[in-house]
Amino acid sequence: MISEVVNWLSCPHCATALIVEASSGLRLLCEEGHAFDVARYGYVSLLPGAGAADTADTAAMVAERDAFLGAGHYAGIADLVTELAADAVADDGVVLDLGAGTGYYLAQVLEAVDRPGIALDISKHAARLAARAHPRIGAVVADAWSGLPVRGRAASVLLNVFAPRNPREMRRVLHPDGRAIVVVPEPDHFRELIAEYGLMAVDDRKPERLREQFGDRFRVESEHPYETTLALSAPEVSQIIGMGPNAWHERAGEVRSGGAVTVAVRAYVLSQM
Ligand SMILES: C[S@@+](CC[C@H](N)C(=O)[O-])C[C@H]1O[C@@H](n2cnc3c(N)ncnc32)[C@H](O)[C@@H]1O
Ligand SMILES: [Zn+2]
Repeated sequence: MISEVVNWLSCPHCATALIVEASSGLRLLCEEGHAFDVARYGYVSLLPGAGAADTADTAAMVAERDAFLGAGHYAGIADLVTELAADAVADDGVVLDLGAGTGYYLAQVLEAVDRPGIALDISKHAARLAARAHPRIGAVVADAWSGLPVRGRAASVLLNVFAPRNPREMRRVLHPDGRAIVVVPEPDHFRELIAEYGLMAVDDRKPERLREQFGDRFRVESEHPYETTLALSAPEVSQIIGMGPNAWHERAGEVRSGGAVTVAVRAYVLSQM
């Protein structure tokens, strides 16, 4: 619920604190009087202007992702993220998930750590699912590329799983003693699908890219490679393609058969320099 996390949010216009106000519906109100309605689905949009970035996951992508994750194919990744988050969590602060999608990872982490969690995503379709993924999740629509509507040092744990990264803002919102857990695909991720369907490998499948990106703000404390082979049905292969980058989508209809698919990712635990 949004009231769980409002103390850690800030106004996207003037950066002052927000409170929950219940009148005809719920809304968040800042000290300067800017107001943000809580949607009836439980999330709040703290985008300063109209319109979402064109990187927002569509309703169809979110539905494919939800079905694929719900089948448990990434349970091993969720277990790894949960274990790393439980090691890093402090007695105060929130768990902040940047590019949280459906809230799948954050919900599992909150089962293990008794803290509130902010699921932040640019997609309102994702936020709608994240808002009901766990009672302690507050779901916020916001752009990870711009200033985050989150108070400085709010997060004792920051999650970032297959999602856009903004090291400057990540540094500002992470408590100095906190940890960021960042999961990125490795070069072998989905290699069978990339070969068979001519999908373009996503650019950040290069381990050194992450170090370059975070270099002067965070140090890599530990790295945790995770690899498995999934045996997928044809509809599941089509789900993977459908939940992926926009450029892949036209290929989803071409899937004729299932098969083995390599999942290769790496989780990094980062702390501030
Ligand atoms: C590949 S999905 C990963 C979602 C989730 N972390 C997971 O692994 O299930 C990437 C997510 O980033 C979100 N996203 C894309 N651009 C964003 C931005 N500028 N700010 C915040 N979220 C963004 C998308 O809407 C999508 O939900
Ligand atoms: Zn304001």
